[in-house]
Amino acid sequence: MAESVILTKDVRSELQAFLNNRSFTRIAVLADHNTRRHCLPVIQQITGTSSLILIPPGEVYKNLATCELIWDEMTKAGLDRKSLLINLGGGVIGDMGGFCASAFKRGIAFVNLPTTLLSMVDASVGGKLGIDFKGYKNHIGFFAMPDSVVIDAVFLKTLPENELRSGFAEVIKHCLIRDEAKWDGLRLREFRDQPWDDLIAHSVRIKSEIVAEDPRESGIRKILNFGHTLGHAIESYFLDINSPVLHGEAVAAGMICELFLSEEVNGLDGATAALAREYILKTFGKLEIDAADAGKILNLTLQDKKNEGGELRFSLLAEIGKTSHNVPVSREQAEKALIKYVKI
Ligand SMILES: NC(=O)c1ccc[n+]([C@@H]2O[C@H](COP(=O)([O-])OP(=O)(O)OC[C@H]3O[C@@H](n4cnc5c(N)ncnc54)[C@H](O)[C@@H]3O)[C@@H](O)[C@H]2O)c1
Ligand SMILES: [Zn+2]
Repeated sequence: MAESVILTKDVRSELQAFLNNRSFTRIAVLADHNTRRHCLPVIQQITGTSSLILIPPGEVYKNLATCELIWDEMTKAGLDRKSLLINLGGGVIGDMGGFCASAFKRGIAFVNLPTTLLSMVDASVGGKLGIDFKGYKNHIGFFAMPDSVVIDAVFLKTLPENELRSGFAEVIKHCLIRDEAKWDGLRLREFRDQPWDDLIAHSVRIKSEIVAEDPRESGIRKILNFGHTLGHAIESYFLDINSPVLHGEAVAAGMICELFLSEEVNGLDGATAALAREYILKTFGKLEIDAADAGKILNLTLQDKKNEGGELRFSLLAEIGKTSHNVPVSREQAEKALIKYVKI
């Protein structure tokens, strides 16, 4: 079942319309300290009398202890099975708020109001909910669809630039894997001059189409992992050396590596791959990785859930807009691509 994703320039009216159409006994808003300050004022007129559940910001709080706090607050606020939780925030709030709402009294309604670019263009579609557990990312969770997702780019005005850029990596990914014409437009503009409303609508459409074709990620949905096999490993590597990078920054590096790989093992044209790498590099800069640590990153890649029987499997471009999934890649080939990145 697909969720209803609404793109609007007037989140207040859309939220009001949703509330007018449904009847809820009680409403609570889940926010973190940043979204309370920057985003709650935008909707407060509509949610004025609702309870506010406040959590600290950041991935480190996307855990069971915070869920306990949320369930505690939901209980104190008197939420019952006919109540609503409004998740006001980025992917952390959306994933964890949805998880808490879906488990509370066996499931209550929830609405996501994404406030980061990443949560608008990626987490808003596909129904994946969950939390991190004992250092494993998104280890506990399930699929469940929000009752509504309302996206308004107005929230991006207060988003720090590095967070905006991080979300932009997923926008680039959606163009590269599925839409050559869009990529040709995107790469002519600097990151700061991008038409966000248009790109958000595009990303939501691309991701929705792919998820609709393969909701449980048994085949084609894997193309959304382009840049993520090495990207996740790079993200874990920087976390391990106590110098965490944003998800999108790691995915940008991952896409550069996987463009090298696409060229090497999947027939992507060399000049096309080089242009794409150049744009990503210009936008994100380069992450400094010690060449001696390439092996460590490769070992982290081997832990990827998408690998089969100890063999590395990647989603790689054959052309811009045409992506193959489950492409077998040897450890040597992956290492070579990573080293090429390190030596740029
Ligand atoms: N469910 C999915 O399909 C899916 C897809 C991609 C990512 N995710 C998850 O999303 C999470 C990352 O999401 P994220 O990047 O949005 O991180 P986030 O939710 O931590 O938000 C990033 C930071 O921006 C702040 N912030 C949010 N909106 C703001 C605004 N409008 N103005 C100012 N500050 C604001 C937050 O308080 C936080 O400090 C990860 O946990 C990831 O696993 C889920
Ligand atoms: Zn991602």
